[in-house]
Parts: sequence; C-alpha cells; structure tokens
Amino acid sequence: MRWLLRSRNVPVAIQNGSHNTLDSCRSLVTSCRAVLLPRFGGPEVLEVRQNVHIPELKPKEVLVRTRAVSVNPLDTRMRSGYGRSLFEPLLPLILGRDISGEVAALGSSVRSLSVGQEVFGALHPTAVRGTYADYAILAEDELTIKPESISHAEASAIPFAALTAWRALRCTARIKQGQRLLVVGGGGAVGFSAIQLAVAVGCHVSTTCGGECISRILAAGAEQAVDYTAEDYETSINGYFDAVLDTIGVPETERIGINLLKRGGHYMTLQGEAASLADRYGLAVGLPVSTAILLKKQVQYRYSHGIEYSWNYMRADPEGLHEIRRLSDVGKLKVPVDKTFSIKEVKEAHEVKDKRLVPGKVVLEFD
Ligand SMILES: NC(=O)c1ccc[n+]([C@@H]2O[C@H](COP(=O)([O-])OP(=O)(O)OC[C@H]3O[C@@H](n4cnc5c(N)ncnc54)[C@H](OP(=O)(O)O)[C@@H]3O)[C@@H](O)[C@H]2O)c1
Repeated sequence: MRWLLRSRNVPVAIQNGSHNTLDSCRSLVTSCRAVLLPRFGGPEVLEVRQNVHIPELKPKEVLVRTRAVSVNPLDTRMRSGYGRSLFEPLLPLILGRDISGEVAALGSSVRSLSVGQEVFGALHPTAVRGTYADYAILAEDELTIKPESISHAEASAIPFAALTAWRALRCTARIKQGQRLLVVGGGGAVGFSAIQLAVAVGCHVSTTCGGECISRILAAGAEQAVDYTAEDYETSINGYFDAVLDTIGVPETERIGINLLKRGGHYMTLQGEAASLADRYGLAVGLPVSTAILLKKQVQYRYSHGIEYSWNYMRADPEGLHEIRRLSDVGKLKVPVDKTFSIKEVKEAHEVKDKRLVPGKVVLEFD
C-alpha cells in the first residue's frame, strides 16, 4: 500500500486490496486540530487546539476528514453543563454530533464504505469525542454516503435532527400512511425533519411553529401550521391525532399534546428527564428516579387517556439514515442553514445560538 496526501490534506490509501486500517493511516494522521471543552461554561470556554491526539480506530470505526458540522442545541447545552454527571469526569470533551466530510481511513471490519467517499452522519448523544475536529471518528452504522445534490454544510445540518425524528416516528409511534401527526415545534430542525419524514410516509401533518416558518412548513406538505405566538393552538388545531411529537416538552405542551391524541395514540417528548435528574442527584440516584417518573407517567396516561407516553432520544439507525439520505438526495428532506461560520469562529457560533440571534441552523465549516 502506498499513501497519497490529497490536495485538501485528505490522506487517501492507494492500495490493491479493498480496505485500509488506521494502523497504516497513523503514519499520516496521529493528531489534528479540534475544539476542546476543558470546563463547562459560556462560549468563551471553547478552545481551538492543534495537535489533539486521534485515537486508534476500532474495527467497526471510520475516520472522517471533517468538512462541516452543525451546531445542535445539545452542543450548547453540554457546553453549559447539561449531562455533567456523565461528562464531568471525562473532560476535556470534544463537542459536536453531526458531520459531513470524507472517509480518511477505515477500521479493519468496515465493509460498506471506502476511503475518499463523501459521507454524512451523526454521533450518539453521549459520545465523548465529538465532531468539532479536523478528523472525527464515527461507527460505520453512524455514517452513509452524502447525497451529491447537497453541499457539506447542508448535509451536516440534517442527520442528528432527522434521526431523532425518525426514531420517534418510525421506531416508537410506527407511523403509517393515512395517520395523523401533530408536531409541536415544527419550525426547529427536529420538528421540520419530522414533518418531512411523515409527509413522505403519507401522513396528514399539523404543527405549531413561529409565524415566520409557516409558509416553509406548508410548502413541505403539512396540512395545518398554527402560529403558537399569535393563536391558542389548543383550540385552533383541527381534530385528534395518532401521534404527537413534542419537541418543546414543557408541561403546557405536554398537557395539550396528550389531550389532542386519539386513544391508543403516542405522545413523544424530546425532553426526557434522565440527564437533568442525574445532574441534580448524581447518576446513582438520578437515573432510578427518572425511570420511576417515566413509569409513573406511562401508567397514569394509559389509565387516564388510553395513550402511550415516551421520552425519545436520538440513536444510530442505519435504516433511518439510509432513508434520510434518499429523501435528502431528492430534495424531500431539508434542514435550512441560516448561517455558517469557520470552525475558528466556534465561540461566535455558540454565542449567536445562546443569544437566539440566529433562529435556524448554524453550521461550522472546516478549511
Ligand atoms: N432527546 C433527544 O435525543 C434530542 C435530540 C435532538 C434534539 N433534542 C431537543 O429537542 C429540541 C429541538 O431541537 P432542534 O434541534 O429542533 O432545535 P432548534 O432547531 O433550535 O428548534 C427549536 C424550535 O422550537 C421552536 N419553539 C420554541 N418554543 C416553542 C413553542 N412553545 N411552540 C412551538 N415551537 C417552539 C423555536 O421556534 P421559535 O424560534 O419560533 O421560538 C425553534 O424553531 C431541543 O430542546 C433539543 O435539545 C432532543
């Protein structure tokens, strides 16, 4: 095997066989630039550092040369200390879940990808080495080929949000053609992804959102979009639903969402309390307490309303990622990018999200 350093510093293995291992790749890439989170706090704690060690690839892992990553609410929340019960002993962390880039090297048992391919995907919410780095490591099943029709910046905005929506709609509620879905908070990345995924299945979709998103949401195929800032959506929303995806998850939206469900319907919130309770009481107490709270609500709502209640989390899902790729490629699944920054401007990017100066997706691009 011989090695070639591509024009944009992507190490590419030129070889006779079909696979490359990091053992060989390490001769070229053993460290890289990354954004470190040495302690919890405001955007000012983020540090762009050179020569950050790249761990060895495990057999099913892939080294990706990063082109773009998006800023998710989880990134800014983790930076501020959300999940500290889990993450504090592991500092410094690298933030970032989403990625779009190029395959730089493959673990020994990766079969579905090859070096040089353009890929996109997302890490699990609890990953410690995130994607805010020139080289990121993801599992094979967290990645798929990037659609050629969209840029790296556009691709990086999609996977974490769309997989969160997919897991709720397809794995929890198992939505089917003809069913009715209510998305609470359809203007955000997860909510807008959920609308598009459900429309693609043939569902009838209603949503609540800020007024400026209404035309985009109706153009994506939703049948009703109610401006929650101007109307009482509890009375404006038409009919009852087979599933409610609540991206906001405050007591008020939970109450309304549950009251708008048919019997047998699914209420799914993205604001599960496991991490916040673990932060408050420690892992040993917080996790059992959160399980007890969840069980209590599930029993209570089954008894009072005849509905299924769940906390939903993003998980890797190769089938979901494949479908997300297919829909993105044909323009049926988009997450609009409002603003891009260079990775060197990561503090500014976090600041605009913290201060809500940019409502939509913010993407960090790598030179
Ligand atoms: N559990 C998980 O695994 C998981 C995974 C991904 C995301 N999440 C969580 O899910 C939430 C959404 O994530 P995201 O990536 O979609 O965030 P996002 O793109 O920032 O979107 C949030 C959206 O919520 C809207 N909104 C706020 N209050 C609302 C209300 N009362 N009614 C209707 N819409 C409202 C905002 O619109 P306006 O600007 O108009 O207020 C904004 O468009 C975040 O809290 C995130 O932490 C959880």
